[in-house]
Amino acid sequence: MIRLREDNDILHFIQIEDAVEKDRLFQHARETCRQYYGDKIYFRGLIEFSSYCARNCSYCGLRASNRALARYRLTDEEILDCCAQGSALGYQTFVLQSGEDPHYTDERIVSIVSRIRRAFPQHAITLSLGEKSRESYEAFFRAGANRYLLRHETANEEHYRRLHPASMSLAARKQCLFTLKEIGYQVGAGFMVGSPFQTPEALLEDLRFLQELQPHMIGVGPFIPQSDTPLKAYPAGTLDMTLKMVALCRLIAPAALIPATTALGTISPFGREKGLAAGANVVMPNLSPKGVRKQYALYDNKICTGDEAAECRRCLENRLRVAGFTPDFSRGDHAEWNQESHSCKTAPICL
Ligand code: 5AD
Ligand code: SF4
Ligand code: FES
Repeated sequence: MIRLREDNDILHFIQIEDAVEKDRLFQHARETCRQYYGDKIYFRGLIEFSSYCARNCSYCGLRASNRALARYRLTDEEILDCCAQGSALGYQTFVLQSGEDPHYTDERIVSIVSRIRRAFPQHAITLSLGEKSRESYEAFFRAGANRYLLRHETANEEHYRRLHPASMSLAARKQCLFTLKEIGYQVGAGFMVGSPFQTPEALLEDLRFLQELQPHMIGVGPFIPQSDTPLKAYPAGTLDMTLKMVALCRLIAPAALIPATTALGTISPFGREKGLAAGANVVMPNLSPKGVRKQYALYDNKICTGDEAAECRRCLENRLRVAGFTPDFSRGDHAEWNQESHSCKTAPICL
């Protein structure tokens, strides 16, 4: 039995090096996942619809000050086309992600979400647009969005300040997450592993924060330097540490949906498979048009930027089967999610 009650227990697992002990941790995490989801791995179709961002996180290639990046925005029609293509490929969850791009006003997001909702009444619509007001989040929810991803990035105050400009705060970010949960979204938090200045104690705080928030989804991936950012010279997070954190997230939030991230597949050829074996149960292949993929340059050497949506689907499906998992294209809601009790309370147009 793996005990994670005391801080010292958790710190012990964050720092273990012994291969046998690590395997025990990963197997326990996989077994915990299996109790809720079997060997199913859920597929989400990711649409990166704008690479513009008004913020300046020092690790991210989309940061406003990065003049080296050619930016793009998809039109509403292009976004809907991606959804149609995704739906034809079997996806029942669309994840719409962008930098914090003021070009997409609330009205436009509401319009896009409403159009997707009308065209795909049964699909899950996940948004990942950054920090917004409660009113905005409510409007998107009323328009038909079901889930929202907003990584907290690090739950340690000082660490957060070192990675972000003074205009951003951990408190504001956490507040957004609690607000999203209150509104009725399935909420995803998460953090980077191995980001510069991270300590084992900061990772402990990440886990404690997740324990408090109990998000439905947890995005954990390695930090990877991006060559046009202030943190370009720092080393990437390691496979080992990322796998340990995936496993610990699984044990801290046993029924969470945890992706084996593209970043994990970027630092190691079988990173995603190893992530799944350590307790992850989601993959998020890209549905964005091939022509723009490279420009969504969060970090260097991102995989799958040269592949069509259909190729990624086929590739990942095969890879997962070879690794002994069962690809699943259903909506894949959180195991304890009750659709009825989370219908929108304020909206006249609930679906
Ligand atoms: N390495 C890894 N992940 C990154 N992200 C942004 N920049 C990097 C990077 N250099 C992640 C952040 C953000 C998500 C969209 O991408 O965690 O929340
Ligand atoms: Fe913008 Fe998000 Fe990148 Fe920060 S992490 S610069 S908010 S896209
Ligand atoms: Fe994209 Fe393999 S998952 S090509």
